[in-house]
Amino acid sequence: MEQLILPSFEKGSSSDRINNYPLLRYMGSKYKLIPWIHETLNSLEFNSAFDAFAGSSVVSYLLKSMNKRVYSNDFLKFSSLISKAVIENKSEIIDSTDLSMLLNENVKSDNFIQKTFNQVFYSKDDLFFLDKVSHNISRLSSPYKRALAYTALFRSCLKKQPRGVFTISGNLDKYNDGRRDLRLTIKQHFIEQVAIYNNVVFDNDQENITFNLDIFDFSEKMYKPDLVYLDPPYVPPSDDNCYIKRYHFLEGLSKYWNGEEIMENTKVKKIKKKFTPFSYRKTAIKAFDEMFDKFNDSTLILSYSSNAYPDLETLTSIMRNHKSSVEVKSKPYKYHFGNHSTVSRSKVNEYLIIGQG
Ligand SMILES: C[S@@+](CC[C@H](N)C(=O)[O-])C[C@H]1O[C@@H](n2cnc3c(N)ncnc32)[C@H](O)[C@@H]1O
Repeated sequence: MEQLILPSFEKGSSSDRINNYPLLRYMGSKYKLIPWIHETLNSLEFNSAFDAFAGSSVVSYLLKSMNKRVYSNDFLKFSSLISKAVIENKSEIIDSTDLSMLLNENVKSDNFIQKTFNQVFYSKDDLFFLDKVSHNISRLSSPYKRALAYTALFRSCLKKQPRGVFTISGNLDKYNDGRRDLRLTIKQHFIEQVAIYNNVVFDNDQENITFNLDIFDFSEKMYKPDLVYLDPPYVPPSDDNCYIKRYHFLEGLSKYWNGEEIMENTKVKKIKKKFTPFSYRKTAIKAFDEMFDKFNDSTLILSYSSNAYPDLETLTSIMRNHKSSVEVKSKPYKYHFGNHSTVSRSKVNEYLIIGQG
């Protein structure tokens, strides 16, 4: 597993825990920028923080490791389950009795996943396991154990899916380069992932809370976070950046597709995308303005990138309407796209825009 090196974290200190956080292949994850984000957070005074667009929860986990009170939010259910498992959860893990119950395939269950995703994703055996384990997760009485089991399952599904996105389906032999992640069954992955995620559960002596809300529905008046970390999706230069398009399978799995309508005319059996104003040129600027206004009592940190719209100058000027001091930190960064044979790299500047006062 790829490890983070955080030189500023003393070995054995509570912040050192971030080194155990598993890398989740998630679009826009700040995993690789964590040391830089940590350095910036460390220079600021605050006790509580709201990670408004938590995604893989790696920034929430950094904040938890820094012993802050963390509010972690994402409007995707699967992402908020990850936060529930590793941020809000203080001590519950999946023990050996839970694990044998979860792995029991001799149970009566629905076969929705086998019916719906046959020849779309995974092997028949993997789909069979997914139906059984979904049923078994619902039998765990603790919501934290359920969230932890789902988190282990999401990472298992991502590892087993070539390129880690659910935009490609059918015969995926051309992606099979013999990698261990593609050879293991989802069940084998799940057993490993349960152990990995059990290991990241800890109590930082704070009441951390997870939300599954559109950011504009969060009650800042009630929770009053000292600092708000904002990492919204970017309006992309081309293509689109829809999270549902890439992760619809995990979002469906998080609720066994209850309440979600499958778009039957799509090859990969997608669910409907969720509107977010940050993804469109027409709506992004107003959304930033309203978001900065909503959290104007808190210190703001916005993660941004030079290949996104609106540009840095526009964003800092919007933030200046709400904050008396605005500072920009920047870091050159290389993104890798594509698979092994067609890797392309794009150089961008990553920014942290910090608003105070
Ligand atoms: C760039 S990612 C965040 C990545 C995260 N910081 C990490 O390191 O993994 C943006 C996230 O915002 C979420 N999102 C988009 N629009 C949202 C909205 N209006 N309210 C809440 N979450 C939203 C997406 O589901 C996605 O997980």
